[in-house]
Amino acid sequence: MDTIIVGGGAIGLAVAWRAAEAGLAVTVVDPRPGRGATWAAAGMLAPVTEAHYGEGALLDLALESSRRWPSFAAELTEATGRDLCYRECGTVSVARNPDDNAALDELFAFQQRLGLDVQRLSGREVRSLEPALSPRVRGGILVVGDHQVDNRALVGALRAAAEAAGVTVRRERVTAVRMDSGGVQGGVRRDGEEGVDRGERGDRVEGVELANGEVLTASQVVLAAGAHSGQIGGVPPTALPSVRPVKGQLLHLRGPAPLATHNIRGLDVYIVPRADGRVVVGATVEELGFDIRVTAGAVHELLREAWTLLPGIAELELVEATAGLRPGSPDNAPLLGQTQVDGLLLATGHYRNGILLTPVTADGLAQALTGGPAEVIAACSPRRFTPAGALA
Ligand code: GLY
Repeated sequence: MDTIIVGGGAIGLAVAWRAAEAGLAVTVVDPRPGRGATWAAAGMLAPVTEAHYGEGALLDLALESSRRWPSFAAELTEATGRDLCYRECGTVSVARNPDDNAALDELFAFQQRLGLDVQRLSGREVRSLEPALSPRVRGGILVVGDHQVDNRALVGALRAAAEAAGVTVRRERVTAVRMDSGGVQGGVRRDGEEGVDRGERGDRVEGVELANGEVLTASQVVLAAGAHSGQIGGVPPTALPSVRPVKGQLLHLRGPAPLATHNIRGLDVYIVPRADGRVVVGATVEELGFDIRVTAGAVHELLREAWTLLPGIAELELVEATAGLRPGSPDNAPLLGQTQVDGLLLATGHYRNGILLTPVTADGLAQALTGGPAEVIAACSPRRFTPAGALA
């Protein structure tokens, strides 16, 4: 029986690729594959720079995915002949002023307590590392292990690799997951846990309904539709992913030569310079529902913050301003693996780390789909949000 993946972004396509390689018959359904949050990402692979208080499980997963990136990128290039512009460039967080520098002191102490590979730099050291930085920059933190990839090249390569491995990509919209209740009461789920009487006893997935009325049957369905994953009909309430859209606006610029070699992180902006002179500047963090309008205020602020750090930004061509919706979860970590409903899995809620977490998500979900232990994603089980009294 088939596996259907709802969502054709980096996550959905990478899961599809790995699952097809593992021998499953896979269909990806997405009205605009690769054009959601993946398209609006910057491609920073920065588990250490983006580490936050109280997010230990997420940090472990992010570091594991970061370790998988070199072989993942090499395998994808080998499979497709495409260059992903994966670059082991390192990332430097920089301070515009003494207040920022004090914040970097705190951040550095936190990163050191976690045993992360970080180096504190003076203003002079950081400017000698990146000469285009403003002379006002007061100091920095260098993370040699935080890198970048071209997210748009990535999703193109993932689609090509998935299709070459036998995945079918359907440009349709899934409106609902179909459940087979089968009149079964007192069922035992595939994982051996007994059900409880919440109207889902014995339920299992049997496929999806498309906006054109078509029904696709499948023994397993993975919801990988980013911020839209909680909007799909037919999903029993205990399995419905608690994801919300978190808008991010960002800019694409272009110059004749790279403005910097490292990713540059300010307190309110990040700058991702590609090797060919392109630069991505991001990103706002806005809780406005499903709104993807680009606003003049956001463009102004992103340019101002980026210019404060790297004045040479002013000379670049402004190529594009875009917005996307990160799938936010209640604890900022993704929801990965089997839900309470037999055959229904999640690969969503990646919030700010979708591109970084693509390799580990793909490997973990492929294991879960083929009945493996999927230990690498165990800490991110969707069941951690199961309401009291429901199946857990
Ligand atoms: N990964 C950075 C962002 O979500 O803006």
